Amino acid sequence: MRFVPMKEMLDTAWVNGYAVGQFNLNGLEFAQAFLQAAQEESSPIIIGVTEKAVHCMGGYRLIATMVESLMEEYEITVPVALHLDHSTSFESCMHALKAGFSSVMIDGSHLPLKQNTALTKKVVDAASILGVSVEGELGRITGEEDGTVVDTAEGKFAIPDECQRYVEESGVDCLAPALGSVHGFYQGKPDLQFGRMVEVRERTGVPLALHGGTGIPDEDIQRAIASGISKINVNTENQVAFTAAIRKALEEKPDLYLVRQYLEPAIEVLKKNVKEKMRLFDSVGQVKGKEKRGKKAVGSCRR
Ligand code: 13P
Repeated sequence: MRFVPMKEMLDTAWVNGYAVGQFNLNGLEFAQAFLQAAQEESSPIIIGVTEKAVHCMGGYRLIATMVESLMEEYEITVPVALHLDHSTSFESCMHALKAGFSSVMIDGSHLPLKQNTALTKKVVDAASILGVSVEGELGRITGEEDGTVVDTAEGKFAIPDECQRYVEESGVDCLAPALGSVHGFYQGKPDLQFGRMVEVRERTGVPLALHGGTGIPDEDIQRAIASGISKINVNTENQVAFTAAIRKALEEKPDLYLVRQYLEPAIEVLKKNVKEKMRLFDSVGQVKGKEKRGKKAVGSCRR
Protein backbone atom coordinates (compact mmCIF):
# COMPACT_ATOMS: atom_id res chain seq x y z
CA MET A 1 0.00 0.00 0.00
CA ARG A 2 1.33 3.40 -0.98
CA PHE A 3 -0.63 5.19 1.76
CA VAL A 4 0.45 5.05 5.38
CA PRO A 5 -1.99 3.78 8.03
CA MET A 6 -3.16 6.72 10.11
CA LYS A 7 -2.48 4.95 13.42
CA GLU A 8 1.28 4.90 12.79
CA MET A 9 1.28 8.61 12.03
CA LEU A 10 -0.82 9.56 15.03
CA ASP A 11 1.14 7.48 17.52
CA THR A 12 4.32 9.25 16.34
CA ALA A 13 2.57 12.62 16.57
CA TRP A 14 1.51 11.92 20.17
CA VAL A 15 5.00 10.84 21.20
CA ASN A 16 6.45 13.99 19.68
CA GLY A 17 3.80 16.46 20.86
CA TYR A 18 2.25 17.63 17.61
CA ALA A 19 -0.92 16.95 15.60
CA VAL A 20 -1.38 15.79 12.01
CA GLY A 21 -3.84 17.76 9.90
CA GLN A 22 -6.65 16.05 8.04
CA PHE A 23 -7.48 18.19 5.04
CA ASN A 24 -10.61 17.33 3.06
CA LEU A 25 -10.62 16.76 -0.69
CA ASN A 26 -13.08 18.69 -2.83
CA GLY A 27 -11.47 18.08 -6.20
CA LEU A 28 -8.18 17.46 -7.97
CA GLU A 29 -6.81 20.92 -7.12
CA PHE A 30 -7.17 20.20 -3.40
CA ALA A 31 -5.08 17.04 -3.73
CA GLN A 32 -2.41 19.00 -5.63
CA ALA A 33 -2.25 21.73 -2.99
CA PHE A 34 -2.26 19.30 -0.04
CA LEU A 35 0.51 17.07 -1.36
CA GLN A 36 2.75 19.96 -2.38
CA ALA A 37 2.26 21.70 0.96
CA ALA A 38 3.10 18.51 2.89
CA GLN A 39 6.21 17.81 0.85
CA GLU A 40 7.50 21.39 0.99
CA GLU A 41 6.96 21.50 4.76
CA SER A 42 8.25 17.96 5.48
CA SER A 43 4.98 17.24 7.24
CA PRO A 44 2.89 14.07 7.39
CA ILE A 45 -0.63 14.60 6.06
CA ILE A 46 -4.03 12.91 6.19
CA ILE A 47 -6.13 13.46 3.09
CA GLY A 48 -9.77 13.03 4.05
CA VAL A 49 -12.78 12.57 1.82
CA THR A 50 -16.43 12.28 2.82
CA GLU A 51 -18.85 9.81 1.21
CA LYS A 52 -20.63 12.68 -0.58
CA ALA A 53 -17.35 14.00 -1.98
CA VAL A 54 -16.41 10.46 -3.08
CA HIS A 55 -19.58 10.23 -5.14
CA CYS A 56 -19.22 13.75 -6.59
CA MET A 57 -15.61 13.08 -7.57
CA GLY A 58 -16.11 9.75 -9.34
CA GLY A 59 -15.78 7.02 -6.72
CA TYR A 60 -13.28 5.46 -4.31
CA ARG A 61 -11.00 3.91 -6.92
CA LEU A 62 -10.66 7.15 -8.85
CA ILE A 63 -9.73 9.07 -5.71
CA ALA A 64 -7.13 6.54 -4.58
CA THR A 65 -5.63 6.38 -8.08
CA MET A 66 -5.64 10.17 -8.46
CA VAL A 67 -3.84 10.80 -5.16
CA GLU A 68 -1.40 7.96 -5.80
CA SER A 69 -0.59 9.24 -9.31
CA LEU A 70 0.00 12.77 -8.01
CA MET A 71 2.31 11.37 -5.33
CA GLU A 72 4.35 9.70 -8.04
CA GLU A 73 4.32 12.77 -10.26
CA TYR A 74 5.43 15.11 -7.44
CA GLU A 75 7.85 12.53 -5.98
CA ILE A 76 6.19 12.75 -2.59
CA THR A 77 8.26 11.15 0.16
CA VAL A 78 6.40 12.36 3.27
CA PRO A 79 3.84 9.98 4.84
CA VAL A 80 0.35 10.36 3.35
CA ALA A 81 -2.77 8.66 4.74
CA LEU A 82 -5.90 8.44 2.59
CA HIS A 83 -8.90 8.52 4.89
CA LEU A 84 -12.66 8.06 4.44
CA ASP A 85 -14.27 10.74 6.61
CA HIS A 86 -17.63 10.26 8.42
CA SER A 87 -18.61 7.05 6.72
CA THR A 88 -22.11 5.98 7.70
CA SER A 89 -21.99 2.29 6.78
CA PHE A 90 -19.89 -0.86 6.89
CA GLU A 91 -20.33 -1.14 3.10
CA SER A 92 -18.78 2.29 2.38
CA CYS A 93 -15.80 1.38 4.55
CA MET A 94 -15.35 -1.84 2.56
CA HIS A 95 -15.43 0.10 -0.73
CA ALA A 96 -12.69 2.38 0.61
CA LEU A 97 -10.61 -0.58 1.78
CA LYS A 98 -10.94 -2.26 -1.59
CA ALA A 99 -9.82 0.90 -3.36
CA GLY A 100 -6.66 1.14 -1.22
CA PHE A 101 -7.53 3.76 1.42
CA SER A 102 -5.28 3.42 4.48
CA SER A 103 -7.82 4.66 6.99
CA VAL A 104 -11.58 4.87 7.49
CA MET A 105 -13.88 6.61 9.93
CA ILE A 106 -17.08 4.82 10.84
CA ASP A 107 -19.45 7.37 12.34
CA GLY A 108 -22.05 5.55 14.40
CA SER A 109 -22.39 8.48 16.82
CA HIS A 110 -26.14 8.74 16.10
CA LEU A 111 -26.62 5.15 17.35
CA PRO A 112 -26.98 3.96 20.95
CA LEU A 113 -23.57 3.08 22.44
CA LYS A 114 -24.03 -0.68 22.11
CA GLN A 115 -24.89 -0.49 18.40
CA ASN A 116 -22.17 2.06 17.68
CA THR A 117 -19.63 -0.25 19.37
CA ALA A 118 -20.84 -3.30 17.44
CA LEU A 119 -20.73 -1.48 14.09
CA THR A 120 -17.27 -0.06 14.82
CA LYS A 121 -15.96 -3.49 15.86
CA LYS A 122 -17.25 -5.01 12.62
CA VAL A 123 -15.28 -2.40 10.63
CA VAL A 124 -12.18 -2.82 12.84
CA ASP A 125 -12.22 -6.61 12.37
CA ALA A 126 -12.28 -6.26 8.58
CA ALA A 127 -9.87 -3.31 8.36
CA SER A 128 -7.23 -4.83 10.63
CA ILE A 129 -6.73 -7.71 8.18
CA LEU A 130 -5.39 -5.15 5.69
CA GLY A 131 -3.59 -3.01 8.28
CA VAL A 132 -6.06 -0.17 7.74
CA SER A 133 -6.71 2.21 10.67
CA VAL A 134 -10.21 2.95 11.96
CA GLU A 135 -11.55 6.12 13.61
CA GLY A 136 -14.82 6.19 15.54
CA GLU A 137 -16.99 8.92 17.06
CA LEU A 138 -18.82 9.29 20.36
CA GLY A 139 -21.20 12.11 21.26
CA ARG A 140 -22.41 14.13 18.28
CA ILE A 141 -20.21 16.75 16.61
CA THR A 142 -22.83 19.25 15.47
CA GLY A 143 -22.83 21.80 12.65
CA GLU A 144 -22.79 21.39 8.88
CA GLU A 145 -20.61 18.84 7.14
CA ASP A 146 -20.91 18.57 3.37
CA GLY A 147 -24.42 19.98 3.32
CA THR A 148 -25.71 17.74 6.14
CA VAL A 149 -26.78 19.60 9.27
CA VAL A 150 -26.44 17.84 12.62
CA ASP A 151 -28.05 19.85 15.39
CA THR A 152 -28.73 18.15 18.69
CA ALA A 153 -28.44 19.13 22.33
CA GLU A 154 -28.77 15.50 23.36
CA GLY A 155 -25.52 13.56 23.80
CA LYS A 156 -23.57 16.71 22.91
CA PHE A 157 -20.41 15.88 24.83
CA ALA A 158 -18.72 12.50 24.93
CA ILE A 159 -18.66 10.83 28.38
CA PRO A 160 -15.17 9.59 29.39
CA ASP A 161 -16.46 6.34 30.88
CA GLU A 162 -18.37 5.51 27.68
CA CYS A 163 -15.34 6.45 25.57
CA GLN A 164 -13.20 3.96 27.49
CA ARG A 165 -15.75 1.16 27.07
CA TYR A 166 -16.25 1.97 23.39
CA VAL A 167 -12.51 1.90 22.64
CA GLU A 168 -11.86 -1.27 24.66
CA GLU A 169 -14.76 -3.18 23.14
CA SER A 170 -14.44 -1.99 19.54
CA GLY A 171 -10.62 -1.95 19.26
CA VAL A 172 -10.79 1.35 17.35
CA ASP A 173 -7.41 3.07 16.62
CA CYS A 174 -8.47 6.70 16.94
CA LEU A 175 -11.41 8.39 18.66
CA ALA A 176 -13.28 11.58 17.75
CA PRO A 177 -15.07 12.50 20.99
CA ALA A 178 -17.54 15.38 20.74
CA LEU A 179 -16.01 17.94 23.10
CA GLY A 180 -17.40 21.27 21.95
CA SER A 181 -16.10 21.64 18.39
CA VAL A 182 -18.57 21.98 15.49
CA HIS A 183 -18.32 21.50 11.75
CA GLY A 184 -18.42 24.73 9.77
CA PHE A 185 -18.57 28.18 11.34
CA TYR A 186 -18.91 28.85 15.07
CA GLN A 187 -21.53 31.12 16.55
CA GLY A 188 -19.47 32.88 19.19
CA LYS A 189 -16.31 31.44 20.67
CA PRO A 190 -15.81 27.66 20.66
CA ASP A 191 -16.20 26.10 24.10
CA LEU A 192 -13.81 23.17 24.02
CA GLN A 193 -13.89 20.78 26.99
CA PHE A 194 -10.15 20.52 27.68
CA GLY A 195 -10.56 18.74 31.03
CA ARG A 196 -12.61 15.97 29.42
CA MET A 197 -10.12 15.80 26.56
CA VAL A 198 -7.31 14.95 28.99
CA GLU A 199 -9.50 12.40 30.76
CA VAL A 200 -10.66 10.73 27.53
CA ARG A 201 -7.08 10.48 26.22
CA GLU A 202 -5.85 9.00 29.51
CA ARG A 203 -8.69 6.51 29.85
CA THR A 204 -8.74 5.32 26.25
CA GLY A 205 -5.00 5.39 25.45
CA VAL A 206 -5.72 6.08 21.76
CA PRO A 207 -5.01 9.21 19.69
CA LEU A 208 -7.90 11.70 19.68
CA ALA A 209 -9.24 13.55 16.64
CA LEU A 210 -10.58 17.11 16.78
CA HIS A 211 -13.23 17.67 14.11
CA GLY A 212 -14.40 21.12 13.08
CA GLY A 213 -10.92 22.70 12.90
CA THR A 214 -12.28 25.79 11.09
CA GLY A 215 -12.52 28.86 13.32
CA ILE A 216 -10.89 27.46 16.46
CA PRO A 217 -8.52 30.11 17.88
CA ASP A 218 -4.81 29.26 17.66
CA GLU A 219 -4.36 29.15 21.43
CA ASP A 220 -7.21 26.64 21.76
CA ILE A 221 -5.65 24.47 19.04
CA GLN A 222 -2.35 24.44 20.91
CA ARG A 223 -4.07 23.66 24.21
CA ALA A 224 -6.03 20.85 22.53
CA ILE A 225 -2.80 19.29 21.23
CA ALA A 226 -1.33 19.43 24.74
CA SER A 227 -4.55 17.88 26.07
CA GLY A 228 -4.49 14.76 23.91
CA ILE A 229 -5.47 15.74 20.34
CA SER A 230 -3.25 14.16 17.66
CA LYS A 231 -5.38 14.76 14.54
CA ILE A 232 -7.16 17.98 13.52
CA ASN A 233 -9.70 18.09 10.68
CA VAL A 234 -10.00 21.17 8.47
CA ASN A 235 -12.40 21.57 5.58
CA THR A 236 -14.64 24.68 5.55
CA GLU A 237 -11.77 27.15 5.92
CA ASN A 238 -9.98 25.71 2.88
CA GLN A 239 -13.14 25.83 0.76
CA VAL A 240 -13.72 29.46 1.77
CA ALA A 241 -10.13 30.41 0.84
CA PHE A 242 -10.23 28.51 -2.48
CA THR A 243 -13.57 29.99 -3.53
CA ALA A 244 -12.57 33.52 -2.48
CA ALA A 245 -9.43 33.28 -4.64
CA ILE A 246 -11.50 32.25 -7.68
CA ARG A 247 -14.03 35.02 -6.97
CA LYS A 248 -11.23 37.59 -6.74
CA ALA A 249 -9.62 36.44 -10.01
CA LEU A 250 -12.96 36.63 -11.86
CA GLU A 251 -13.86 40.01 -10.36
CA GLU A 252 -10.50 41.40 -11.39
CA LYS A 253 -10.88 40.03 -14.93
CA PRO A 254 -14.59 39.60 -15.71
CA ASP A 255 -13.80 38.33 -19.23
CA LEU A 256 -11.50 35.57 -18.02
CA TYR A 257 -12.60 32.15 -19.25
CA LEU A 258 -9.34 30.19 -19.23
CA VAL A 259 -10.01 27.83 -16.34
CA ARG A 260 -6.41 27.25 -15.30
CA GLN A 261 -5.83 30.99 -15.01
CA TYR A 262 -8.21 31.24 -12.08
CA LEU A 263 -7.59 27.77 -10.63
CA GLU A 264 -3.82 28.19 -10.35
CA PRO A 265 -3.96 31.17 -7.95
CA ALA A 266 -6.64 29.33 -5.97
CA ILE A 267 -4.32 26.31 -5.58
CA GLU A 268 -1.59 28.63 -4.29
CA VAL A 269 -3.96 30.15 -1.71
CA LEU A 270 -5.01 26.67 -0.58
CA LYS A 271 -1.38 25.59 -0.26
CA LYS A 272 -0.61 28.65 1.84
CA ASN A 273 -3.57 27.97 4.11
CA VAL A 274 -2.60 24.33 4.62
CA LYS A 275 1.01 25.28 5.36
CA GLU A 276 -0.18 27.74 8.02
CA LYS A 277 -2.25 24.99 9.64
CA MET A 278 0.72 22.61 9.57
CA ARG A 279 2.81 25.25 11.32
CA LEU A 280 0.08 25.75 13.93
CA PHE A 281 -0.21 21.98 14.49
CA ASP A 282 3.61 21.82 14.74
CA SER A 283 3.81 19.04 12.16
CA VAL A 284 6.27 21.02 9.98
CA GLY A 285 9.66 19.31 9.75
CA GLN A 286 8.41 16.32 11.73
CA VAL A 287 9.12 13.83 8.98
CA LYS A 288 12.81 14.21 9.76
CA GLY A 289 11.87 13.51 13.41
CA LYS A 290 12.07 15.82 16.40
CA GLU A 291 11.90 13.87 19.70
CA LYS A 292 10.13 16.17 22.10
CA ARG A 293 7.74 14.32 24.33
CA GLY A 294 9.77 11.12 24.73
CA LYS A 295 8.23 7.65 24.66
CA LYS A 296 7.60 7.55 28.42
CA ALA A 297 4.93 10.22 28.16
CA VAL A 298 2.62 8.05 26.01
CA GLY A 299 -0.73 7.66 27.72
CA SER A 300 -0.44 10.73 29.93
CA CYS A 301 -1.61 14.24 29.01
CA ARG A 302 -0.04 17.64 29.38
CA ARG A 303 -2.20 20.75 29.53
P1 13P B 1 -14.57 22.11 9.35
O1 13P B 1 -15.32 22.05 8.07
O2 13P B 1 -15.30 22.82 10.41
O3 13P B 1 -13.17 22.58 9.20
O4 13P B 1 -14.49 20.59 9.88
C1 13P B 1 -13.91 19.60 9.09
C2 13P B 1 -14.13 18.24 9.65
O5 13P B 1 -14.26 18.07 10.84
C3 13P B 1 -14.15 17.12 8.72
O6 13P B 1 -14.49 15.93 9.34
